[in-house]
Amino acid sequence: MNLQELTGLYDFSGKTVVITGGAGILGGEMACALVGCRANVAILDRDQAMAERLVQRIPTGVGRYIIVYGDVLDRDMLADARDRIVAEFGRVDALVNAAGGNAPAATTGAEMTFFDIPPEALRFVVDLNLVGTILPSQVFGRAMAEQKSGVIVNLSSMNALRPLTRIPAYSAAKAAVSNFTQWLAVHMAQEYSPAIRVNALAPGFFLTEQNRFLLTEREGGGLTARGRSILAHTPMGRFGTPEDLLGTLLWLLSPASAFVTGTVIPVDGGFAAYSGV
Ligand SMILES: NC(=O)c1ccc[n+]([C@@H]2O[C@H](COP(=O)([O-])OP(=O)(O)OC[C@H]3O[C@@H](n4cnc5c(N)ncnc54)[C@H](OP(=O)(O)O)[C@@H]3O)[C@@H](O)[C@H]2O)c1
Repeated sequence: MNLQELTGLYDFSGKTVVITGGAGILGGEMACALVGCRANVAILDRDQAMAERLVQRIPTGVGRYIIVYGDVLDRDMLADARDRIVAEFGRVDALVNAAGGNAPAATTGAEMTFFDIPPEALRFVVDLNLVGTILPSQVFGRAMAEQKSGVIVNLSSMNALRPLTRIPAYSAAKAAVSNFTQWLAVHMAQEYSPAIRVNALAPGFFLTEQNRFLLTEREGGGLTARGRSILAHTPMGRFGTPEDLLGTLLWLLSPASAFVTGTVIPVDGGFAAYSGV
């Protein structure tokens, strides 16, 4: 393979990528990068305000984008979104399942013991992360099965490898996302086409809205004991930035990873590798 072919692997001209949670902190960065790599990007989110703010950052004169309102827990709404995206861009080549997150009500602490976490808070977190990954995979994966090609990238987490304290539902849900990633990779390759690949990113710690309350003090913004502990257990000694995910994401979406499926790749500054000693 020559150099031109190699660099061309990251030119997504004519490829349509759907990003659920695409207006969020990590999904938004991915959307900007993919438009910059000439993809047609469908930003699927339920947060209109975030989506409107994101639009101001999206590069112009390269790929195209549309914003599609959608709830990853509503399959009919997802099917409508798919029809709109196909009408706009002709097909769907890739899906990034980036909608997800934890909820304060499902987090143990001084005011909430494990025994008291309300069932609805547990269900909210498991539904959003697990069911909210499976339903878009059904809706957009069907189109991939019909065209016999496609790529799905899920967002798992460090919690999936070893659970973190305080967030039982989120840890369990992300472990299930990793498991589902492997399951779907095998299913798609065996039942539909080996050219449909399914992988996941397992980000370490990125300071975003869903974990700010755990990692930084409300007053003053300094690190909490948990935030300090995370940095002490991250050999690279810092939180991730959304840009840190882009290289691995583009690689997983591109033909450069054509023989890679069923993997969950940590992007964590070495957190998973470090025993603490
Ligand atoms: N940040 C981290 O350190 C970290 C680490 C590991 C894994 N992750 C995972 O990475 C993914 C992205 O995280 P992030 O930090 O970018 O989170 P974020 O900024 O909260 O973005 C998530 C986006 O998804 C949207 N969303 C929530 N529920 C939805 C639903 N039912 N349907 C459609 N959209 C919905 C959110 O909208 P609303 O604002 O309306 O909720 C938000 O715009 C998540 O799966 C997260 O669990 C994050």
